Amino acid sequence: MKKIQISPSILSADFSQLGNEIKKLEKAGADMIHVDVMDGHFVPNLTMGPPIIKALRQYTKLPFDVHLMISPVHKYIKDYAEAGADIITIHPEATKNLKDSILHIKKLNKKVGVSLNPETKVDLIVELLDSIDLVLIMSVNPGFGGQKFMPEVLDKIKELKKMKNEKNLKFDIEIDGGINFDNNKLAIEAGANILVSGTTVFKNNNGNIKKNIDLLKLS
Ligand code: DX5
Ligand code: ZN
Repeated sequence: MKKIQISPSILSADFSQLGNEIKKLEKAGADMIHVDVMDGHFVPNLTMGPPIIKALRQYTKLPFDVHLMISPVHKYIKDYAEAGADIITIHPEATKNLKDSILHIKKLNKKVGVSLNPETKVDLIVELLDSIDLVLIMSVNPGFGGQKFMPEVLDKIKELKKMKNEKNLKFDIEIDGGINFDNNKLAIEAGANILVSGTTVFKNNNGNIKKNIDLLKLS
C-alpha cells in the first residue's frame, strides 16, 4: 500500500495569514498544499487566483495541489502552471475537450489531476487513466468547505483502485470533502492514498494542526 499523504486545504486557513499558515502546515507534516480555486460560476463561491498562488509560492517547497473549480478552465491552465502549481486538477465538465486539457497540462510539465463530482461516473475517464497522475474524488458537492461527507462515493474509489491494480497503473487516488477522524479509515480502506482536509486539519483539537494531520494519516 502506498504511504498515505495529507493535502490540507487552505480554504479553512486564516486568509489574512496565508503565508504563515502554509509554513505551519509544512512544519506539521503536510505532504502538499491543497489550493481550492473557485470562480463563482462553475461553483457558487469565489476564492483565489494565480496572483495569490504566486505570492504564496515562496513560503514552502511542498507541492501545490491546485484544484481548479473554474469554467471554462482550458485557457487559464497556463496561468496556474506559471504561478507555481505542481499538480493541476480539472473537472471534466469544465472543459470542451478533456483529452486536450490533459495534454496541455502535461506539456507544461505539471502533474495532471482529474476530479469527479459525487454524481460523475468513473466511465468518463476510464480510457484516459494512463495519462492521468491523480484522480480526485469529490466526497461533497464542490463549492464550500465544512460540508458533510458523502459515503456513497467510496464505491467509486473501490472501482478505481480495482482498475488501477488490474491495469497496473500508477495514478494517485485523492479524496476531497468532509474528511474527518471517523471516515478517513474508510477512505483509505477503499483505496484513497491522498486525503484532502480543510476543516478537520485547521479546526479540530483547538487547531493543533500536527495532531490533526497525524490522526488523519492513522499514524
Ligand atoms: C470543496 C473543496 C474542498 C474543501 C475541503 O469544494 O474542494 O477542498 O474545501 O474542506 P473540508 O475538509 O472542510 O470539507
Ligand atoms: Zn478541493
